[in-house]
Amino acid sequence: MERIPTGIAELDGKISGGYPKSKAMLITGAPGTGKTIFGLHFLYRGCTDGRKCTLIATEEMPEDIITEAGMLGLDLQPYVDSGQLIIERVLETRTESTKMAAQFGAGFEVTEMDILERVQSVPGDVEVVVIDNIGVFSLDLSIKEFRNKIDTINHTLCSKGCTTLFIMDETAYELTHRLAEYSVYGSIKLMIKENPYTGRRERYLDIPKMRGTDISLELSEFHIASEGIIFRKSVKEIE
Ligand SMILES: Nc1ncnc2c1ncn2[C@@H]1O[C@H](COP(=O)(O)OP(=O)(O)OP(=O)(O)O)[C@@H](O)[C@H]1O
Ligand SMILES: [Mg+2]
Repeated sequence: MERIPTGIAELDGKISGGYPKSKAMLITGAPGTGKTIFGLHFLYRGCTDGRKCTLIATEEMPEDIITEAGMLGLDLQPYVDSGQLIIERVLETRTESTKMAAQFGAGFEVTEMDILERVQSVPGDVEVVVIDNIGVFSLDLSIKEFRNKIDTINHTLCSKGCTTLFIMDETAYELTHRLAEYSVYGSIKLMIKENPYTGRRERYLDIPKMRGTDISLELSEFHIASEGIIFRKSVKEIE
């Protein structure tokens, strides 16, 4: 199976070279666990490899995302300027919709700012798609509607040949009974946990599922530095 590099060399090494091409991955985690940064590495690598990329940003302004990426040494601006990276402005549409509803009543709300429509309009030559955060669209759906929707979004993007990273906040993920994990090809969970030996809080990555891939079920420790995600070598790798 062909792989698309994740933008994090140590992560590529853990999953047979990268995310499976034309499939969808899910990244979940509590606030601040690093979900967006994983997405930024993937987009930056896609851009430097000459792939057309799209970020559907539902909870941050594109300008803020570009600034955060730049602080990690991932300069996305030239790719935005050249049109190789498209950042879809969804946050403004959501907030405008909420303001309209507050002013004129719920009938004026542009419900859900239909993410499926956004996905359907992704141009055919786009190879890399990141949706950060898919959770905001799940909150007013029934479980069945959510499952149907994520399957449809997933199928639409896979049919277009896009390699997709769905980022989902942990609250929405739990509220939807972790159903998203069944729809996708593989999933990555990010967490911050206390190390029982040192008492220090550390960042961990867990890969509970990756179809067609030999994965380790061991947690991997990583940290976030000025150059982005860096994994610590496991005891086995040091030996
Ligand atoms: N330039 C940097 N240098 C070092 N650490 C950083 C830097 N930028 C961000 N971080 C760390 O990364 C964390 C945030 O990562 P990120 O934005 O990817 O989290 P997230 O999981 O997307 O959070 P949310 O659910 O709120 O969107 C920050 O809390 C901070 O600890
Ligand atoms: Mg984020």
